Amino acid sequence: MSTLSNKRIIVGITGGIAAYKSAEIVRRLQDRGSKVQVVMTPSAEEFIRPLTLQALSGYPVHADLLDPEAEAGMGHIELARWADLLLIAPATADFIASMVHGRGNSLLSAIYLATSGMVAVAPAMNQGMWSHPATSDNMQTLRQRQVMIFGPDNGIQACGDIGEGRMQQPDVIAEQVANCFETGQLSGKKVVITAGPTREAIDPVRYISNHSSGKMGYAMATAAIEAGAQVTIISGPVALAAPDRCTVIRVISAAEMHSSAMAACADADIFIAAAAVADYRPASVAEQKIKKHTDSIELKLEKTPDIVSTVANNVKDIFVVGFAAETQDIETYARDKLQRKKLNAIIANDVSRIDVGFNSDNNEAWWITSNTSQVFSKRSKTQLARDIIDILSKQIDS
Ligand code: C5P
Repeated sequence: MSTLSNKRIIVGITGGIAAYKSAEIVRRLQDRGSKVQVVMTPSAEEFIRPLTLQALSGYPVHADLLDPEAEAGMGHIELARWADLLLIAPATADFIASMVHGRGNSLLSAIYLATSGMVAVAPAMNQGMWSHPATSDNMQTLRQRQVMIFGPDNGIQACGDIGEGRMQQPDVIAEQVANCFETGQLSGKKVVITAGPTREAIDPVRYISNHSSGKMGYAMATAAIEAGAQVTIISGPVALAAPDRCTVIRVISAAEMHSSAMAACADADIFIAAAAVADYRPASVAEQKIKKHTDSIELKLEKTPDIVSTVANNVKDIFVVGFAAETQDIETYARDKLQRKKLNAIIANDVSRIDVGFNSDNNEAWWITSNTSQVFSKRSKTQLARDIIDILSKQIDS
């Protein structure tokens, strides 16, 4: 069974009789490890009560586009960014038409327009409505926009008709949602990823470190796993659970990260250096705790080994991706780093902003190679990681 661990899914419910099955869909998605928030259209509330879905999902149900209180909490743009995948189930003929026309007249349609995550619809309607050329054309348009279409099934309908138009069963929908995250783009590839900060000891109780949370590196690992890669994370100290289906090597210092990375990269195809490795470490580590006897002390610092450039310069046939955390002239500094460290690609981000970068769940980044540059506008780190893995896989194949 494919997993959805740590995935964030919005279940959008529109007004059809199949809405009673949406409660079960929420449950099946949670069974596979995802977090689920529910957004309903006003007509969906005629078929199933928001309270049921609130109790099941553990989140308030979102329904109103113009509710100032709701917008002050998690508004439609926040919700759109939160979601890795927007699943509209059931999707009525009317709602599908509004997606095709890009209308933003309900909270759910506004989220559809604003999301950069994946979108799937599970249509549910009378067989006549489903086979109408207007609906067929609309479905064709959604397919061209990479919206995934689940079903519909064939069978007896609520109105007594028999034919195509029934919403698929909740467990079938949950299985297809899980499959959306499995791209296979990196199947057979070995990927090594460094993540998190390093700690450089001053004495047995103190250290030098930085604010890296490890979220970006772990998101890259998850995206690479979903793409079918065999992943090793070399992780500095972080407060994150390791993704399923990968090897995690835990390290503390830059020196440990360096030797683990060199060993793991020997037979790897791709190295992604997402760790915020401490640039300097104390030249010598005091054996005992340093006492507070003097008003000031001096620490002599020395450079730590540059892990990503050691790998790029010494390991053959490996595609090396670095990160550049910058506060100004982002592209220029990143391009300089790309050349100096002999990397194949670099992902640059602006760490001077508080809404993205360090510790944030969101990030905005540039993918830069020797002859290309592409911006990924602000989105969740999970989605950004997936987009980067996508572009990386295409680059390796070309
Ligand atoms: O030079 P700077 O630290 O800004 O470079 C960032 C890139 O280099 C990141 O990919 C980071 O993981 C990597 N790096 C490294 N070893 C170091 C310092 C940085 O692998 N000692």
